Amino acid sequence: MGCMVAIGTQWGDEGKAKMIDFFSKDSDIIVRYQGGANAGHTVVVDGVKHVFHLIPSGILRESKICLIGNGVVIDPEQLIEEIDLLESKGISLKGRLLISDAAHMILPLHKAFDEAMEEFRSNKIGTTKRGIGPAYSDKCLRVGIRVGDVFDEEYMRERLAFDIKLKNLYLEKVFGKPPFPMEKVLDIIDRFRERAGGMVANTSHYLHTAIGEGKKILLEGAQGFALDIDHGTYPFVTSSNPTIGGALLGTGLNCSDIDQVFGITKAYVTRVGEGPFPTEEKGEFGEFLRTKGGEFGATTGRPRRCGWFDIPLLRQASRINGLTNIALTKLDVLSGLKTVKVAASYRLDGKEIDYYPSAKLHRVEPVYEELPGWDEDISSCTTFDDLPIAARVYVRYLEERGGVKISLVSNGADRKNTFPL
Ligand code: IMP
Repeated sequence: MGCMVAIGTQWGDEGKAKMIDFFSKDSDIIVRYQGGANAGHTVVVDGVKHVFHLIPSGILRESKICLIGNGVVIDPEQLIEEIDLLESKGISLKGRLLISDAAHMILPLHKAFDEAMEEFRSNKIGTTKRGIGPAYSDKCLRVGIRVGDVFDEEYMRERLAFDIKLKNLYLEKVFGKPPFPMEKVLDIIDRFRERAGGMVANTSHYLHTAIGEGKKILLEGAQGFALDIDHGTYPFVTSSNPTIGGALLGTGLNCSDIDQVFGITKAYVTRVGEGPFPTEEKGEFGEFLRTKGGEFGATTGRPRRCGWFDIPLLRQASRINGLTNIALTKLDVLSGLKTVKVAASYRLDGKEIDYYPSAKLHRVEPVYEELPGWDEDISSCTTFDDLPIAARVYVRYLEERGGVKISLVSNGADRKNTFPL
């Protein structure tokens, strides 16, 4: 592998952090390329749980370089909290964490705006209220503050004053909220400059140089394919591109740099927040998955909606991202079921279709196939052949119908619960 991308193929929460931690042992540099602190990436090492929102989970492996790319929106308060927490655990970041000077910042006014906007909307998105949408829209409006701007105090103050004026007009006049004081924002930026200023770099140049030196690079996506602002279930999406295009834009790499695109796919499907979800199970089975799979948001604690595996969703994720392989996660959660259902296709307006109609997803009905389940606890399996026959049939079925090679199976939260096929 020269450069590998890891992308969630559903609505996020596919178990990406665990797989990224796994891949990072063979990588030199791990790069986060989009999203912000809306992500909650959980890794368990020797029974100890670590949750990251911004810093790539590769930071847990000594000597690896971690990079926050230009496509990420950075909440300085959150970043400082994560840096402090890692250092308090004895994990040194010296020379190991680089932050793009072209990444945009999420300031408290973006979080206030996100919250006020959700409250104001009649058709709620169910955002994480981390300021993601407002920060990316400031980027598009060309009023945002970039990390590199904080070193030019005069330039930054002028831009900030304009953005605060604009946001305060909305906050006061539209949402009926108190205005945001400039001083509070400046104080946060000062703390960021002091604590993380030494980590700021031209990361795309750094990456191109590293590629030239033969370094192995892992690009880490946040959220998942179906939350992509262009290819997901709009408007119930995040404000960035978790898909392959976002990996290039958010790092400055180009398509010829990429060797492998790993889809991270959960053995069933979950979603947090509003929006269509064809295979959702609201009753007993949904509750079974939620409880057994610990399906509660790592960022907001919200219960995740749960349902059966969806083949058209996987096939679409594969087409959009050019998946070369899949890591299938949380297979162990399905133990104990008599039968396992899979949406093999959809029915739309009385016709069976085998594709994902992004604009009409709320109207499709899943067409299920039923496979035998298995009772055995599979968390101690270390090879594919150790799995009960019904679990092997399930994995091979997903592979054949999804059309992508399943190369890894994860059967538990710990680092050691992963095996190749
Ligand atoms: P936002 O990204 O906070 O604007 O939220 C937009 C939508 O994306 C909401 O439905 C969120 O629940 C969802 N979302 C954002 N980040 C994640 C994530 O890391 N995992 C799963 N869902 C997410």
